[in-house]
Amino acid sequence: AQANIGVVGLAVMGSNLARNLASREGNTVAVFNRSYSRTELLTSEHPEAGFIASETIEDFVASLTTPRTAIIMVQAGKGTDAVISQLSALFEPGDIIVDGGNADFQDTIRREKENSAKGLNFVGAGISGGEEGALHGPSIMPGGSVEAYKTLGPILESIAAIIDGVPCVTHIGTDGAGHFVKMIHNGIEYADMQLIAEAYDLLRRVGGHSPAAIADIFAEWNTGELNSYLIEITAEILRQVDPKTDKPFIDIVLDEAGSKGTGVWTVQNSLDLGVPVGGIAEAVFARAVSAHPEQRGPVRATLTARPEIAIVGDTFQEDVRQALYASKIVAYAQGFDAIIAGAVKYGWSIDKGAIATIWRGGCIIRAQFLNRIVDAYNNDPSIPSLLVDKYFADAVATSEAAWRRVVSTAALSGVPVPGFGSSLSYFDSLASERLPAALVQGQRDYFGAHTYKRVDMPGTFHTLWSGDRSEVATEGSSH
Ligand code: 6PG
Repeated sequence: AQANIGVVGLAVMGSNLARNLASREGNTVAVFNRSYSRTELLTSEHPEAGFIASETIEDFVASLTTPRTAIIMVQAGKGTDAVISQLSALFEPGDIIVDGGNADFQDTIRREKENSAKGLNFVGAGISGGEEGALHGPSIMPGGSVEAYKTLGPILESIAAIIDGVPCVTHIGTDGAGHFVKMIHNGIEYADMQLIAEAYDLLRRVGGHSPAAIADIFAEWNTGELNSYLIEITAEILRQVDPKTDKPFIDIVLDEAGSKGTGVWTVQNSLDLGVPVGGIAEAVFARAVSAHPEQRGPVRATLTARPEIAIVGDTFQEDVRQALYASKIVAYAQGFDAIIAGAVKYGWSIDKGAIATIWRGGCIIRAQFLNRIVDAYNNDPSIPSLLVDKYFADAVATSEAAWRRVVSTAALSGVPVPGFGSSLSYFDSLASERLPAALVQGQRDYFGAHTYKRVDMPGTFHTLWSGDRSEVATEGSSH
């Protein structure tokens, strides 16, 4: 046995992670893949990595020094379960199995329970950053036991992205905490992408700018408070010209967005937790709407005319930038609310500032902006919403008028802005003194005797709607 760490599953993410590990001082990396040809390809293309390659899982396990540590990088779901059961049959108490895929955190909770019953450490670790991140430095969100992190932490720290000398990895919490937080990261990623897409659409259809001109606008925005990986790559994508047709690349791509599931999971779990993540949900739904051409075409065909595009002035571009920033703040506020609610429900002790810290580099949502979230939670870890933090409250106040102009201009022009619109409504809901929820309570009480509370006295009440309409105090709950 000579390898201190092993990787199982050598598709692009696994191969790149293995190469990243091998490039760090002190690591010897064992590799295994179900079909050996892929292992051979990796070892022959990268002799410099000094991989220890095995043809069987038994040899792979034998090549690891104890406590054995293996990172599984296979497709989430059944494939992961199969590899886990192979490894757990051969591993000994104290050994560490890491699942680096985009697993459902409920699966991770189950797998951790099953493996810890055998004395094995099971760590579900969210890894973000795509192929390049895996190779040069991802952001890593490990769950699992504190004990496992003692061995695993230094290895993960050695391969993670580094920002201001701080590696983008922290022990998130026990069992499924890492995969839960990675799931929310992806939900925020969906919202971020959708908001940027809406900004592009407005600049193009209302602002009348070409993709190349919008690329320049995004590149400029990337030098300010919106500075982020997603804004940076957006500029590059919009600047791309299709070599086959010489058209803008964006115009030759079919406008039907795919997804692999983590955004949907974020919304499903937030619904269960009762956390309003409308901005994230609208991003998921926007992809779903786009993927229904059989409805889009026929609905468009029913229209005899489209609304006229509103005439906008020179300030429109800056308005869109501010609307994007305000909506982005809402998306992060909602995402962190989901993390907080998940931590309460599943019993994780999480450090919100530490999560914002490890998202500053390596991951898809990496951005300058995360520093402001770190500050917010450092100033007051118990703030009821990020929107209450002074910096964010000021930022939203500064952008508010522009945000409203953009959403109304979009509505008048017939340009869909589900992300901008829902984020603004969310903000207005939180900011309203009275909500029409009172009427909803009245309706619930009318048809189902679901009861309500009063603003002026404690207790729970019901009005005898089909009787004399007097009010009675009840034992029930109005919720
Ligand atoms: C990351 C990404 C990644 C995700 C892809 C695809 O953090 O590196 O979130 O994990 O799988 O972005 O997601 P969709 O196919 O659902 O868009």
